[in-house]
This record gives sequence, C-alpha cells and structure tokens, in this order.
Amino acid sequence: MSAASVRHPIFARVFDRFCGALEKEIGPHRDELLARLGGRVVELGAGNGINFGHYPGTVDEVVAIEPEPYLQTKARAAAASAPIDVTVLDGTADALPLPDDAADVAVTCLVLCTVPDQARALAELRRVLKPGGELRFLEHVRSQRPRLARVQRRLDSSGIWPRLGGGCHCARDTAAAIAAAGFEIERVRSFDVGPSWGHTSPHVLGAARAQ
Ligand SMILES: C[S@@+](CC[C@H](N)C(=O)[O-])C[C@H]1O[C@@H](n2cnc3c(N)ncnc32)[C@H](O)[C@@H]1O
Repeated sequence: MSAASVRHPIFARVFDRFCGALEKEIGPHRDELLARLGGRVVELGAGNGINFGHYPGTVDEVVAIEPEPYLQTKARAAAASAPIDVTVLDGTADALPLPDDAADVAVTCLVLCTVPDQARALAELRRVLKPGGELRFLEHVRSQRPRLARVQRRLDSSGIWPRLGGGCHCARDTAAAIAAAGFEIERVRSFDVGPSWGHTSPHVLGAARAQ
C-alpha cells in the first residue's frame, strides 16, 4: 500500500471537525499514554496531530507518520506549534519510511483499528524500534461481551463500519495481535469511552516491549 492510496477526504474532515468533542474524555488517556516518554518517538497514524500537545518535554523528537493528505496538512500545522520537536512524514504502516532501529518508542493511538494488516504494521514498528524499545498503545478493541462482539464482527464484515470510519474495524483483538507480533505486554488496562455498549467499546491502553 502506498501512502497515496490512503484517501478518506470525507472521514478526514468529519474526524478533524469533531474529534475535539471527545477530548474531555479522551485527553487524560492521551496524557497517560504518553507519560514519562523520552528519546526519539515514532507515532503511527498521527491524524491531525492531536497527540502532539500531550507529549512530555522529556521527548527529544517525534516522527509522526500520516498518509491521509488532509490530516497530514493539519498534522504539519500542529507540529509547527507543538511544544516539542515534531517531524511529519508521509507513509503507511506497512512500509514505514524509517530505517531499522530508528526509534526508542513507538506510539499507536486509535490507528491499529484502521491499518489494513495489523501483523505487518506491528512487524514494521518492531523493525524501526531499537532492540528492547517500547510500544505505547491506546486502541479500541473487540468486546468481551459475546453479543456486542457479534455486532462488532458484523459491522466489520459487512463493510458498514470500515466505510463510515475511514477503514476502521471495531472487532479486532489488538492486545493479542501485539503479543503475537513479539512484544511483551508489560501493562494494559481496559476502559470505556462513551457507553459500554457502544460499538467502539472497550478501549485498551498499555505498554509493551519489543523482544
Ligand atoms: C481514527 S484516526 C486517529 C488519529 C490519531 N492517532 C488520534 O489519536 O486521534 C486513524 C488515523 O490512521 C491513519 N491511517 C489510516 N490508514 C493508515 C495506514 N495504512 N498507515 C498509517 N496510518 C493510517 C488515518 O489517516 C488517521 O489519521
């Protein structure tokens, strides 16, 4: 997949317009996701750059990957006024535009639901992480409740939710995919954003180490 193939013009504009409305609820989770980070960070699928203001001053540099043109422009604008050094690069999860061992930390925030191939994306993140590097993740995942999980699977397989959500899937077991990709999960907690019966509930937030 080339970066040029990620085009979600309507989703991108709707997302950019309305994502702020959830920030009262999600903002503190973003702070927790990025707390105590340092060194060089690669952030996958940075969107409009909403995380940039949440990085602690101990971070040396964030390399933010964003393939969607509208959101990439927004991310570059957010980078220009970010309190830390941020470089926005065009690129996709399946072929990150970075050499091996380029980063101390990788961050995924509401993006492993959207990448076409999670295993490939996680293999790429491992490749660009230094040995023993850290993966921080905040993702919505498949519910443990059988009825909701069934609805989530149907929304994904029918294509309804991926079409509405810019390629998003709501039935992925992302923590399991992270472990299967060779990361050791050091901590993870689960919580709801919005109603617990919502199709993008629950969320997981955690840290894993590249083995
Ligand atoms: C729901 S948005 C999340 C944006 C941001 N990370 C946040 O926390 O709000 C998903 C992001 O993943 C990006 N994306 C979609 N496909 C991608 C791919 N193949 N590789 C990398 N990023 C991708 C989208 O353009 C979008 O910016």
